[in-house]
Amino acid sequence: MAGSKEEKKMTIEDLPGVGEATAEKLRENGLDDIMTIAVASPKDLSELAGIAEGTAIKIIAAARKSADIGNFETGEQILERRKDVLKLSTGSKNLDNLLGGGFETQSITEFFGEFGSGKTQIMHQAAVNATMPVEQGGFDSDVLIIDTENTFRPERIIQMSKARGADPDTVLKRIHVARAYNSHHQILLAERAIELGKEFPIKLLIVDSLTSHFRSEYMGRGSLSERQQLLNRHMHDLLKFATIYNAVIGVTNQVSARPDVFFGDPTAPIGGNIVGHTATFRIYLRKSKGGKRIARLIDSPYLPEGETVIQISEDGVSDGV
Ligand code: GTP
Ligand code: MG
Repeated sequence: MAGSKEEKKMTIEDLPGVGEATAEKLRENGLDDIMTIAVASPKDLSELAGIAEGTAIKIIAAARKSADIGNFETGEQILERRKDVLKLSTGSKNLDNLLGGGFETQSITEFFGEFGSGKTQIMHQAAVNATMPVEQGGFDSDVLIIDTENTFRPERIIQMSKARGADPDTVLKRIHVARAYNSHHQILLAERAIELGKEFPIKLLIVDSLTSHFRSEYMGRGSLSERQQLLNRHMHDLLKFATIYNAVIGVTNQVSARPDVFFGDPTAPIGGNIVGHTATFRIYLRKSKGGKRIARLIDSPYLPEGETVIQISEDGVSDGV
């Protein structure tokens, strides 16, 4: 089963054709394990490592042979694993219904939208909700937040806790926040989260924002493939956490609208296909009147697309009626 098995401890130097210099180049570009190389394209590998495409093809073939790509599971086995799936309320019944009951464990849920659309507020509310007792729709769990924009506000947690009749101090004690200073740091924190999961009962891991560092550090066409590789690896670390700990992963993402860019779809989420294919649920948030937000579910594997309205107020996320 994905994630529950220790990966084979083979290093990239063990691959035929990978000498010290190539290994170093690969590592610098985030291609530091067999699996990442196994799923890389020959063109990307040759560009990033400065090797001929023919050599890249051979390296990838060898990586594929030795990578623990994972076994096939029967539908029955997958159904069995899915029986463990839990749902965490978002605070809004409307939004819960749109998501088929709330945030789902063993998956990544992505909220994207422009500034002020409520992504960070929704993550704060999820954090409070996860700490609540099971009878009240919570997970009785600790929460990890990887904060890349320094937007975590304990004051908001206190307000939202009070609104739910929870003791704010108890809630705050269960929320562990790490500031990520750059994309590399962010990746390390997600890896470290797997360790922390052994110490604390963590059923919710938040990355707010998933893409901001990647976006600002990897500008321009030339660095796009590198950015996508790193994002891909990061998303898979998050998914691994979700599977190992039967946890919810909540991530936020901006849209590509920029006043200095006049091409492209201004409402498209950052990170393109990599983020889109790895996030199980994507919700597009739009501002509406009087603290209301319109949430639209996009690309779900088994739920219909649809829209609903939520309210963001001092008390947090609700239906607003
Ligand atoms: P970026 O991170 O900038 O992309 O935006 P975001 O989508 O994370 O927005 P965020 O969740 O920070 O939403 C900010 C908005 O939430 C504010 O503009 C307010 O409309 C609302 N909000 C935040 N705190 C409060 C509050 O205490 N009371 C009320 N009524 N609204 C609040
Ligand atoms: Mg935010």
